[in-house]
Order: sequence, then structure tokens, then C-alpha cells
Amino acid sequence: MALPFATAIVPAAGLGTRFLPATKAVPKELFPVIDTPGIELVAAEAAEAGASRLVIVISPGKDAVAEYFRPQPELEATLEERGKTELLGRVQRAANLIQVETAIQDQALGLGHAVGCAEPNLRPEEEAVAVLLPDDLVLPTGVLSRMARVRAERGGTVLCAFDIPRAEISAYGVFDVDDTDDPDVKRVNGMVEKPPADEAPSTFAAAGRYLLDRAIFDALKRITPGAGGELQLTDAIALLISEGHPVHVVVHRGGRHDLGNPAGFLRAAVDFALAHPEYGPDLRDWLRGRIADG
Ligand code: G1P
Repeated sequence: MALPFATAIVPAAGLGTRFLPATKAVPKELFPVIDTPGIELVAAEAAEAGASRLVIVISPGKDAVAEYFRPQPELEATLEERGKTELLGRVQRAANLIQVETAIQDQALGLGHAVGCAEPNLRPEEEAVAVLLPDDLVLPTGVLSRMARVRAERGGTVLCAFDIPRAEISAYGVFDVDDTDDPDVKRVNGMVEKPPADEAPSTFAAAGRYLLDRAIFDALKRITPGAGGELQLTDAIALLISEGHPVHVVVHRGGRHDLGNPAGFLRAAVDFALAHPEYGPDLRDWLRGRIADG
């Protein structure tokens, strides 16, 4: 069977306003979760699901995000000379994961517009493309492969959904769904970006992983500015649904971190550090003492 998708698009053109002032100098996608930038975690997830190409959509000035994936021969030679083999492996890991390209988004016109900027990077034969939002860490990984299986069975477009508390729902794209014979797969009848909580059609929200039929690019050209005055990916998906294009969600029952704001980022860092063989035990003891001190 042909691979379900070869390319994963990662929109990374945002200003990182929630992380200012740090993002004056460093793109938030390069902030390390312990020692590994979030963008590498997302690239690893895309590669694990079978993608061979990552198209990172950046704004002018954010080249460092793609630069991170280039080999660093001098640094690598130094580590090799010093016998730091394990560290050398970690330094080389990103460049060996996946082929990285960039697309430029010149104006901050919204997520839908950012995804559309990557269309010229696709090859003619690619029928579907994955989109991974680098702010969202979906744990454990593997949901993209489940989404690909659902596309193979049911066709069309498949997204990842989380069941979110209603009080938080208006921060998300929200699905209007019907059950299928699989409790973790739902048919989507409509989708709305950031509705007021009392108008949300369900508590199932888009969680940053999309497997989009190529038809999305045509839909993206036909939408007008929506929530926040931006061209929304949600609105292009809603347009496809209204035209009879099949859309399903895989409900992911695992964990999730939002790396896009300091509070979420700190949680992710603590979560990963507690599971780390070297840092975990000490951190756990220290946290216990720190919390007991009030
Ligand atoms: C974006 C999408 C939204 C989705 C969310 C997931 O919103 O527009 O539909 O639910 O990501 O994190 P943002 O968080 O960029 O405002």
C-alpha cells in the first residue's frame, strides 16, 4: 500500500507573543523540553508516522527553526575527537530524522493561510498531507498512524480530537459529531472555531494533528477571514464538510501538553523531567520538599 502521506506541514510562523520577551531572540519552537526543542519532538512524531518530508512554515527572521535541522560538521568533529559518542548521537539526531524544507508566510493572516503557504512544496502525486501544530504535544505518539488507518478505511480527511472540559472549549476548533461503530472514531458534521462555551456543538476539540485531503488547498483559497479576523483552517474544513467531503476524528484518550504558553511549557518540562532516568529521581525529591515548604 502507498504511504498515506509523505509530507508533514508544521506551521511555525507565529510571533510567540505569549512568550515575550524571550521570543524577541529565540523562536519558541526551539525552546528545549529538557534538552530537545519542541520542533524536534514534532519532527520525530511525523517521521515515526511515515512522513519523509517536513515543511516548516516560518515568517521572515525565523530561519533558526530550520537551521536547527542542518548538520554541524565542526561541532560533530569536536565531539567525536573528545569521545563524546552519546552526545554526538543526540546532536546528529535531528538532521537524520526527516528531510526539512521551509515555506515562507510573509503576513500573519492565520493558521489556514499558513498551511496554504506550503502547497507549492507538495508533489503532484501527493493526495493527502499531515499538519502538526508544534504547540501541541500529543502523548503517547501514534495518533497520526491511527488517523491514516481511518483515512484508508473511510477516505477524506481525518483529525485528532480531545474531549475537553466545556469551560475551556472556546479556545479550540470544536466538532459537531455523530458516533460510528468504533467508539474512538466519530463522523464530523460540522466544525466551528473558538465558539462561546454555551454554543459549542460538543466538547470534542481539534488538538493540533490533521491528516488533510489535498482538497483542503482549494478550500483554503475560498474562505474569508473568520474568528479573530484570521483565515482559519477550521473554516476550510467546515467548507469541505458542507460540500459532502467525508471528515472523521480519532478521539485521542492520552495526554497532551500545550507548549505555546509558559504555564503549559513548564508542565511539559516537569512531566518529561520526572520520567527522565538521569534527572527524574532528584527532581521528584526536590519537588516533594519544595511543595511541603509551601
Ligand atoms: C489552533 C486551531 C484550533 C485548535 C488549536 C489546537 O488554535 O485554530 O482549531 O483547536 O489550535 O491547539 P490556536 O491554539 O492556534 O489559537
